Amino acid sequence: MATKKLDVGAILAAADAGGFAVPAFNYSDIWDFLAIVEAAEELDAPIFISSNQQVVTDIGIELTGAFGAAAIKKARIPLLHHLDHSNKVEICRAAVDNHYPSVMIDASARPLAENIAAVKEVVAYAHPRGVFVEGEVGRIQGMGVEGMYTGTDFLARVEDVEKFVAESGVDSLAAGIGTAHGFYKGKPEIHFDLLEKINKAVKVPLVLHGGTGIPEEDVRRAIKGGINKMNVGTIIHCTYMNALRAELNARGENPYTLDVMKKVRPLVTNVVKQWIKVCMADGKAKGLV
Ligand code: 13P
Repeated sequence: MATKKLDVGAILAAADAGGFAVPAFNYSDIWDFLAIVEAAEELDAPIFISSNQQVVTDIGIELTGAFGAAAIKKARIPLLHHLDHSNKVEICRAAVDNHYPSVMIDASARPLAENIAAVKEVVAYAHPRGVFVEGEVGRIQGMGVEGMYTGTDFLARVEDVEKFVAESGVDSLAAGIGTAHGFYKGKPEIHFDLLEKINKAVKVPLVLHGGTGIPEEDVRRAIKGGINKMNVGTIIHCTYMNALRAELNARGENPYTLDVMKKVRPLVTNVVKQWIKVCMADGKAKGLV
């Protein structure tokens, strides 16, 4: 399938220069995928739309890749279909082969040398095919579907970050600075001082994971501190499933899928629109497609 060429690096550079972050929303099926795209088009925002490893495994990467490519072609905004948190090099390769313009290899659970080696392998396959590669150093805490880690050694070390970026060829970096997947217990403790050091140490765009539950003022502060991509998952999944339950309860026996989805989709779209505004990405698609 012919795909529209998207320069992910240039879009993240535009975010950096323009003082906003490109939000990245995790979808699980075609209905939340469509709800997310609708929000981005209504607000004229560039976005990443991300499938986690379970999504591509359960649906099949040929299918997610094909509908991603079709959606990219049709979209009026830069729609960056992204493979999120894959710990397997072969799944990253499959995403590259299935029209994803952007992939994340997450080997952060492995020692630094192995992490670098995994990223290098993905970069060697992705770059000649024009695909952007995100990697991770340190750990994202929490218990979410996009990742789980409850250890205490989660902060990225600046010297590791420098070595990782210099040796792996990675295009963007997610660093452990205190954010977590899933819902936070209490207020997130983001290490802004570490973010500042990392931003000074490396030139690649920085990614913040664990968006759900981060207060707006902290997101804005992180963007000022160098964050160019902001990942949001849990609130999408929960809004979708809770809206679905409420709609099914309201309808009683024998509901029809498409009638139910007509009611559910706008609720997901609304949450996505709020996050686009928090990231200040609304109205920023101009000139990027
Ligand atoms: P949340 O689920 O906490 O929003 O994080 C999503 C994420 O970081 C996906 O990589």
